[in-house]
Amino acid sequence: MNMTDVKVLITEDEIKQRIKELAAAMNEYYDSEEVYVICALKGAIIFAADLIRELKMPVKIEFIRLSSYGGNKTSSGKVNSVDIALPNLNAKNVLILEDIVDTGLTAKFLLDFIELNFKTKSTKFCAFLDKKLFRQTDIEPDYYGFEVDDKFVVGYGLDYNGYYRNLRYIGYI
Ligand code: IMP
Ligand code: MG
Repeated sequence: MNMTDVKVLITEDEIKQRIKELAAAMNEYYDSEEVYVICALKGAIIFAADLIRELKMPVKIEFIRLSSYGGNKTSSGKVNSVDIALPNLNAKNVLILEDIVDTGLTAKFLLDFIELNFKTKSTKFCAFLDKKLFRQTDIEPDYYGFEVDDKFVVGYGLDYNGYYRNLRYIGYI
């Protein structure tokens, strides 16, 4: 895998700054209420790790794993593997973290799952990146870090064929 042909789209400093802004908005919204943060593996791992350390309310973190991508650069259009083991979220504030929302199918699947199974106090969806162009659902993130156009982006948790998740910036290939 040639790691050199990635062009920088969003720098490490820009990411750091934006994470602080997102966390500030969340700190204000939740005040000091407890929040169950749900990190969608694998892509949101870096974003979640950085974001939760800026949150000031009591936080619990849970992990779920959904995948809708094959090995190529387009969404398969369906959620094809699922691993969801969540505690009881009734009466809890739930904050879902995803790496990127593209078609919105993964997010919709997850939001529907939570709505069907729990009566939460609140359910919010935050995507680090928002790729609005290919949306196939009416999903709009409550919070997002950056908007991206039709580029296939990697880094900061996002992968291409499993690689590039460890880049400190968002790049495109
Ligand atoms: P959706 O279900 O089509 O919204 O796709 C969401 C998932 O597709 C994300 O969680 C990513 O894993 C993956 N994805 C979509 N666009 C990109 C991209 O540009 N780079 C890397 N992964 C992507
Ligand atoms: Mg992925």
